[in-house]
Amino acid sequence: MRNDIKEILFTTEQIEEKAAQLAKELEVDYAGKKPILLGLLKGSIPFIGDLMKHMNMPIQIEFMDVSSYHGGTTSSGQVKILKDLDISVENRHIIIVEDIVDTGFTLTKVIALLKHRGAASVEVVTMLDKPEGRVVEMEPKYIGFTIPKAFVVGYGLDYDEYYRNLPYVGILKEEVYMK
Ligand code: PRP
Ligand code: MN
Ligand code: MG
Repeated sequence: MRNDIKEILFTTEQIEEKAAQLAKELEVDYAGKKPILLGLLKGSIPFIGDLMKHMNMPIQIEFMDVSSYHGGTTSSGQVKILKDLDISVENRHIIIVEDIVDTGFTLTKVIALLKHRGAASVEVVTMLDKPEGRVVEMEPKYIGFTIPKAFVVGYGLDYDEYYRNLPYVGILKEEVYMK
């Protein structure tokens, strides 16, 4: 798998350090609030694991599976809920956990839904932010690293469902997705 990677952007050590740092920030900001860490499947899996082990406080973890189709030229991204929550979010503080924010469609949809359902607060923690990809306005409150517009994989991020298990974030070689 390493052969398919052009360049490593963030090493395991850098990612783990960043996750621990973000966890400590969340610990302070959410003291006494018993927040729900809401991971969006499947990309958030490694990050939610790293985050939660550094949060020394009562938290709940939940998951949703949401898929977005970025086809076409319009700015109306279609987002489908594939697996919904089976708990109430009413009056709860929600921290959405993401591997990456790109167009912003996925989060826009999920945030609106959670607010509609009466969440007390909704914020986003993402390991990677790709602001150049943004189509709808979306500013995650907690960001690990800001990245340029490149095809990145690893640490939850896939190409055609593979590479999620790489313990680092890297740029995929063009020849891999051109063939
Ligand atoms: C990817 C990524 C984010 C989302 C970001 O998920 O994990 O959830 O896209 O893109 P956006 O800001 O343009 O909406 P994807 O829908 O590919 O599912 P996955 O997590 O299972 O890979
Ligand atoms: Mn995802
Ligand atoms: Mg994906």
